[in-house]
Amino acid sequence: MRPAAMTVLAIETSCDETSVAVVRAGVVRANLVASQVALHAKYGGVVPELAAREHLRNLAPLVRGALAGAGVRPGELDAIAATQGPGLPNALLVGLKAAQGLAFALRKPFFGIHHHEAHLFSPWIAGQPLRAEFDTWQPHVSLIVSGGHTMLVAVATEAEHRVLGATIDDAAGECFDKAAKLMGLAYPGGPEIDRLARSGNPEAIRFPRPLLRESHDDFSFSGLKTAVRYYLRDHPAVLESAGALADLCASVQAAIVEVLVTKTLRAARREGVGCVTAAGGVTCNRALREALTRACAGEGITLRLAAPALCTDNAAMVGVLAARRLARGVPATDLDAELQPGWSL
Ligand code: KG4
Ligand code: ZN
Repeated sequence: MRPAAMTVLAIETSCDETSVAVVRAGVVRANLVASQVALHAKYGGVVPELAAREHLRNLAPLVRGALAGAGVRPGELDAIAATQGPGLPNALLVGLKAAQGLAFALRKPFFGIHHHEAHLFSPWIAGQPLRAEFDTWQPHVSLIVSGGHTMLVAVATEAEHRVLGATIDDAAGECFDKAAKLMGLAYPGGPEIDRLARSGNPEAIRFPRPLLRESHDDFSFSGLKTAVRYYLRDHPAVLESAGALADLCASVQAAIVEVLVTKTLRAARREGVGCVTAAGGVTCNRALREALTRACAGEGITLRLAAPALCTDNAAMVGVLAARRLARGVPATDLDAELQPGWSL
């Protein structure tokens, strides 16, 4: 089989986004995402049982919609892929078992994909229409920043990577969300802080930059969230003034961004790579994108940021990773393979 002709159907249900993609000949022909943000917003966070039920409701229509949108019949698929872990167990179960069932019925190989490994691939999917861009691939250091994870990964080849460091407590997105909650902003708070910070002064308040000076690659953001809590306790009037709130948002954001960018660039230098990538929901953040762009340009490092639509959870990255595996002849995953909610990269 020519790799170029391969067609993969991919499913992602690890958290609160149901997503189905069809990747054909390296092109993302469909990438449907049903976000559950509105459902979970009133609880201020993801409710696992509700997430699983919503995946069940959404999945079959999305599979039909993705195939129809891509103009692909089930019989034309060469493989089925799904996120196998890590994630919310009941949420993962919905996508994983559906994908294994489809693979069984269609007699096609199944690929169980690691969610973070898929995030590592997302910066390499770009263009209009979105397509896999591996001709310019090179060893790199990747920053994965989402609501659940913050980690730095050294990627040597498409199949070899090493986690350099990760958060020892809250993830960067969690810090954005918790700080926003303290300010009374809507969930998820990251995009709200990003929006309000645009008119604020990032130097108005000097928040701590946790572990910035340490030479290791671990992160810690819970102290920063606590600093915001104390700041609000001591300056309650901030919440009454749009200008002061914008300054607070810009200052919190600046602290998070400085830590992420400084540690990413330091890791890239130490690993001797000429390329940095970033993916995960927080990579949507405008200040982070700008700061990474500036820092990498200053050091002659190539930067690949995941496209905003592929920063948050999506099946396109799962499908592209599976298609690359299929093309390399990597053995398929067992059809009765179990989910791996705590799978480490
Ligand atoms: O990758 P993702 O969709 O889901 C997880 O796997 O967690 O990331 C969601 C996280 C949330 O914490 C959200 O607040 C954050 O990404 N986020 C942002 C922005 N957009 C999403 N944080 C800061 N600025 C943004 N523009
Ligand atoms: Zn994710």
